[in-house]
Order: sequence, then C-alpha cells, then structure tokens
Amino acid sequence: MKRTKIKDLLNATEFGQQVTVKGWVRTFRNNQFIAINDGSSINNIQAVVDFTSTDESLLKRLTTGAAVSVTGELVESLGKGQRVEIKVGQLEILGDCDAEKYPLQPKKHSLEFLREIAHLRFRTNTFNAVFKVRNALAFAIHKFFNEQGFVYMHSPIITGSDAEGAGEMFRVTTIDLDNIPRNEDGSVNYKEDFFGKSTNLTVSGQLEGELAALAFGEIYTFGPTFRAENSNTTRHLAEFWMIEPEMAFYDLNDNMDLAESLLKYVIRYALDNCGDELEFLKGRLLEEEKQKPQNERSDLDLISKLNFCLENSFERITYTEAINILKSSKPNQKKQFKYLIEDWGADLQSEHERYLVEKHFKKPVILTDYPADIKAFYMKQNDADDQGRNTVRAMDILFPGIGEIVGGSQREEVLEKLERRMTEMHIPVEEMSWFLDTRRFGSVPHSGFGLGFERLVLFVTGMTNIRDVIPFPRTPKNAEF
Ligand code: 4AD
Ligand code: MG
Repeated sequence: MKRTKIKDLLNATEFGQQVTVKGWVRTFRNNQFIAINDGSSINNIQAVVDFTSTDESLLKRLTTGAAVSVTGELVESLGKGQRVEIKVGQLEILGDCDAEKYPLQPKKHSLEFLREIAHLRFRTNTFNAVFKVRNALAFAIHKFFNEQGFVYMHSPIITGSDAEGAGEMFRVTTIDLDNIPRNEDGSVNYKEDFFGKSTNLTVSGQLEGELAALAFGEIYTFGPTFRAENSNTTRHLAEFWMIEPEMAFYDLNDNMDLAESLLKYVIRYALDNCGDELEFLKGRLLEEEKQKPQNERSDLDLISKLNFCLENSFERITYTEAINILKSSKPNQKKQFKYLIEDWGADLQSEHERYLVEKHFKKPVILTDYPADIKAFYMKQNDADDQGRNTVRAMDILFPGIGEIVGGSQREEVLEKLERRMTEMHIPVEEMSWFLDTRRFGSVPHSGFGLGFERLVLFVTGMTNIRDVIPFPRTPKNAEF
C-alpha cells in the first residue's frame, strides 16, 4: 500500500480509511501507543497496537529511533493530545534501532550535544522546525525574485580572482603538498596546478553578478560562499549561503527599497506557511529565555517580533549620524562598550550595531554612507564632505539580535574613479580587467547587496547560534560529517 504522509493524515477528516505510514518511532508507551514521526510534520501520529494479538518479540523491537511501517484504520482518537490515530492492523519493523546505543533519547538534549551528532539532529523537533523554515525561506527568496522578473544567475564557486576584498580565502589546489613545484625564486609554481594558476573558493558572487546585471538588468545569485576568517562567533560560518541581487539602473535608495521589501516578503512567507514550526520555535525560545536574567529577555515573543518587523519601516540613517548617536550614548559615556566610539572613521562592532537597533531605534536600521576606508573598493564614491571626509554609497541593514544581516552598496560606475581606488587599495587592476570591462563598455549606475542566508534563518527561527541553522556547520577547527 502506498504510504501517506503524517502531515496529511493529521488534517484528514475521512475516518475509517485504511492507511499506511512509514517513519521512525519517537516513543512507545504502555506496550500500546507508538508515536511515529516521518519528518513531514513536527507533530507525530499515534498508532495503537493491540498487544494481546501482537508477537511479544515484535513489540520489543519498537524502540525509540526504529524505522517502522504501519498499516491500519484511521480513527478519531479518544485520548487527549491528538485528533486522529491509527488502529494498527499490520506492523513491520523496517530498521531496528538499539535503544542502548541510540544517542537520541525521548528527553531534551542540549543544542551543543546535538551539534556533535549533526547527522541525527534532523530527527528532533527543534531541527525539524528549523530546517523546514530554512526550506521555506529559500523557496520564498526564489519566488520573490521570480515574481519581479529577476534572472537567477549561478556564479562560480571556484574563482581565479583573489581580489574581491571580502575576506580570507580557501585555496583550491591539486598540487601534491608533499612535493610542491617551485619557481627558481622558490615561490610556488601554480602553472603546474590544475587550472594553471592560483585559485580559491569564492567569498562572494558579486563581481560576476555585476557582469550579468549589466546585460540582463536585474539578476540574483544564491549559493554557497566561503570565508577562511578565524571568527569563532555565534554569527560567523566558514561556509555560508548568500543571496546577492545586482541591478542595473538602481541607485542606493532603490537598492534599500528592494532589500527591505525582500526581507519583509520572506518573513511574511514564513509566517504564512510555517505556522506550526514558528509556534514550536516561539515556545523553545521562551524556555531558553527563562534561563536568562530578566533584563536580557526580549520584550517580544518570536512571532510578535517577526510581525513587528513587517509593520515598521526600517530606520535609514547615515554612518555619521550613527556615530553621533553612539558617541553620546549611555554605554559609551559610561565606558560600557568594549570598543569605545571616539572618532569618526571607527568601524562599528556588533555591540554598537545592536545598541542602535535594540536600544535606540528599537527596529531594523539601515546605515548608509560609511567612511571609504572601511569599505570595499567597488562602492560608489561620494564627494568629500565639508570636513574633507570621504564616504561611499554603502548600506548595511542591522537586525535585532543579529547585527548586520545585509551588506551592499551602489557601485562606482566611473572607470577612472574605480581604477584610482583600486590602486590605492593595492588591488591588481590588470588582473581585474574582465571586471573593469563593465565600466569601459556601456557603464551605467547600478547597485546590489548580499543577504546572509543563515543570519536570516537565525532571525526568523529565533535560534541563537548560527551553527544551529545550517545542516552541517563549518567553523574553525570543525568540519565533521
Ligand atoms: O557584507 P558582506 O561581506 O558583503 C559582500 O560579500 C558583498 N559582496 C555583498 C554584495 O554587495 N553583493 O556579506 C554580506 C552578508 C553579510 O551582511 C552577512 O549577513 C553575511 O553576508 N555574512 C556571513 N554570514 C555568515 N558567516 C559569515 N562568515 C559571514 N560573512 C558575511
Ligand atoms: Mg559587510
């Protein structure tokens, strides 16, 4: 008999039908009640076996984690806690699970423990909910751009340009590290390497995206990116996914409008389509926050926080305005910030970003027009201000509990200005000739941004560590499974 997904059965109204479900045992109580989960829903279905007529040895094999197939009649449940259940006619063990050795027990496990068994954590409610929401958000992103006529462009994962300036890179090589081919001066001879040159894993698809935008008008990439920075934080991964739209004829305001509407669209999509999961995650977060002192708990529960984000427009201020707010802020005056804000030009740390969002404005904030010296070479240069300070048309979106979720800018489209900046920043202009061709031939104003996918999932699920929103996290000294 064809199997029915548990999610569909839990909503079924047609009692008396014969159904088959296949899944994994969550619990087996009173030698009678099996809670089965097949991953389709965060909720289990209850199957009731008649132990008087079932072989003792079969019942013994109904352990937590065992894979089973159950066929029987779908009936209205008399017990509390579920609407429907299956009266088991046929029971088959598809895969035994040694209860003594199975690491997942029907009790609460810490997220840290589950991270060590990442291959099994999918079977828990928390991770079922997290990865369902992740899936919905990925789909919503494609849906949003598709509805707007953007072209989904696949940027390369292996790149030969090591000048994007976004972070440290992972080298890609087939050179035998025990027998490195060398030039006469002792340097590595990459001509002998697979691509005949030095190559790396990409840190961003933006530069390739710019080429496509200047032909298709509006494009986006959505793929894995790699950064070999040694940041062991709850916000950084060495391998993460990024969404990078790039649009010809957009200025910075158009860029901010697009980013804000994308974020609101996908959050709305999750609220509309992941009700059960978000309810569960809301409860999880409430539990987690009970462990914290009162003043560190959030004012809003998860779902209210998501709705709040939809109902309010993001605050848009310049870096210079932000510095003024931070300088005169209480934690700066009382020297509570780890990094005190003294001068214009300072890079903002996450404590500053979170102060602006969580304490000062109490909503998402878009910071624009950063000092040129702390931003990438490709950003559009503003005229120097009355104090001779140079800024660029950058925009970072800061979210409560997350800090920076989006980084983007209008791009410098004037060849000479861009080349001058690259030279100042020691970026090899020659090697980037393919990129500069966009500025040589039919250059136009354009803009784009990068949305960190895991940071988005972190925000929507209310999880607190980025390692818990990607199936197989890669971080310094950790690439298990
Ligand atoms: O600000 P970033 O470095 O911007 C870029 O890479 C540009 N090329 C984007 C563009 O304009 N097309 O990264 C963009 C976003 C950040 O705002 C953050 O959300 C996320 O990517 N991000 C990370 N997420 C997880 N782990 C890391 N190590 C991340 N680094 C950046
Ligand atoms: Mg950034």
